[in-house]
Amino acid sequence: MEVTVGLAWVLGVVPLLGWLFWWWNDIWYGIPVKIRCSASGTKLPPGQMGIPFFGEMLTFLWYFNVLRRPDDYINSKRRKYGDGIGMYRTHLFGSPGIIACSPSITKFVFQSSSKFIAEWPNNEIVGLNSISAVQGTAHLRIKSFITGAINQPDALRRIAILIQPLLITTLQSWAQKGRIVASNETKKVTFENIGKIFASFEPGPVLERLDKLFEGLMKGLRAYPINFPGTTYHHALQCRKRAIAIFREKIEKKKEKNLQGGAEIMNDLMDGLMQFKDDEGKQLSDVEVLDNIANLIFAGYESTALSTMWALHYLAKYPNVLQKLREENIAISKSKNGELITIDDVSKMKYTNKVIEETIRLTNVAAMIFRTATEDVEFKGYKIPKNWKIMLWVRYLHTNPENFEDPLCFNPDRWNEQAKPGTYQVFGGGTRICAGNMLARLQLAIFLHHLSVGYKWDLINPDAKICYLAHPKPVDGVEITFSKIK
Ligand code: HEM
Ligand SMILES: *[C@@H]1O[C@H](CO)[C@@H](O)[C@H](O)[C@H]1NC(C)=O
Repeated sequence: MEVTVGLAWVLGVVPLLGWLFWWWNDIWYGIPVKIRCSASGTKLPPGQMGIPFFGEMLTFLWYFNVLRRPDDYINSKRRKYGDGIGMYRTHLFGSPGIIACSPSITKFVFQSSSKFIAEWPNNEIVGLNSISAVQGTAHLRIKSFITGAINQPDALRRIAILIQPLLITTLQSWAQKGRIVASNETKKVTFENIGKIFASFEPGPVLERLDKLFEGLMKGLRAYPINFPGTTYHHALQCRKRAIAIFREKIEKKKEKNLQGGAEIMNDLMDGLMQFKDDEGKQLSDVEVLDNIANLIFAGYESTALSTMWALHYLAKYPNVLQKLREENIAISKSKNGELITIDDVSKMKYTNKVIEETIRLTNVAAMIFRTATEDVEFKGYKIPKNWKIMLWVRYLHTNPENFEDPLCFNPDRWNEQAKPGTYQVFGGGTRICAGNMLARLQLAIFLHHLSVGYKWDLINPDAKICYLAHPKPVDGVEITFSKIK
């Protein structure tokens, strides 16, 4: 008797429980949906939603953190479920979702901005009134202003001159040190330049304090939102409060100046935001200005710093590319006789611009871009259920050999031709496309110019392993020896 019960357990109940555990989320989210929509012929994309609560998180971390082969996470799905239309169902980061990794579905999502909205899990940290948190017409209103203020030729012409002196002296200081951790140093200079463009902060103790505060704030963007002393989220909120206080002081000073000076002058982005009037003549409130300044800093900070760091890495690894870059920039430099370069010079730097595109393609600051479906959406016979996340796996677009030949090779010459439609989405797309994409390219161009003309450097650990989370970065932070070319 007891033997049969035991046998029944081993043969029946244990596998059943195991099966249930393994397919828990699929059953929980999947089957009812499948039944409900079977009449219309649509079905959920293929995939596996994994175990309770964690979903597929462990598999994801396995590929990203343990194997350090992030693209094989998608490759394994393609092998298991076929290519289909490039959508797989999953459960990641605490919610059911669809991975999208083909150009056609990516394009569809970017262009259907009312069906798929960009939602931050921690809006309180992003800033409730910021460009990233607001939707619809409120978003378009602030977007058009910000794009005009930092991403259009007039603004870029001014910014090129504004940020150049600091880039030049920074490179000199690196050469004096002789040996640097590039990721630390590129962060520092990026932040100093952002401080200058956005709120006329000069390098010094206040800016250093802000930098620390932003580090804490940015950690909270991805943290679990429990506001309790000791949590990352709590710390991030505190940092945010203190950073906002520093900006508020700046606003007050600016207002005083404007009262005294009469005519309003626009020197930085903060002035611009303070003076901005929409079609109805309405101005932004102080809180709106503050939220957007903070938002722009974290949007432009890590992304630019990481791309700059990767440029140093790849150029050290590909001396032929560096040689060509140097030749082009030395020619420009000779024609300038020591003057600062302008955006007109940058537009002539054809090879440099290819190096920039290739650097950004391989940096993959954002492995994926998140959207939430606001309604049940159908795409080519498959269903994306309401309230599910859709993760546009842009990293895979850039590392898929079907889109880019020998994708992990740093080859600026591939940009002699345009990328295939929809395969190059480093800055996102649709109404939420990056508001600082031209500014990011400009900063890289100016940096690469002065770098390649005046300096040489070598990687200390050329074979350092790469960490892929939260952003791709060699574990040594790209340690280099750095010196002036005699
Ligand atoms: C290489 C550097 C950069 C990369 C790879 C990058 C990438 C991106 C991506 C992928 C998005 C879209 C996010 C989404 O659709 O949800 C985005 C949005 C944004 N980026 Fe960038 N970015 C870079 C530099 C910058 C800079 C320098 C700034 C400004 C200072 C900036 C400001 C923004 C803003 C404000 C948004 C939000 C736009 C909106 O919600 O409408 N970015 N960026
Ligand atoms: C670089 O930054 C990391 C993290 O902030 C820090 O631990 C490390 O000491 C820094 N290295 C140098 C050489 O400054």
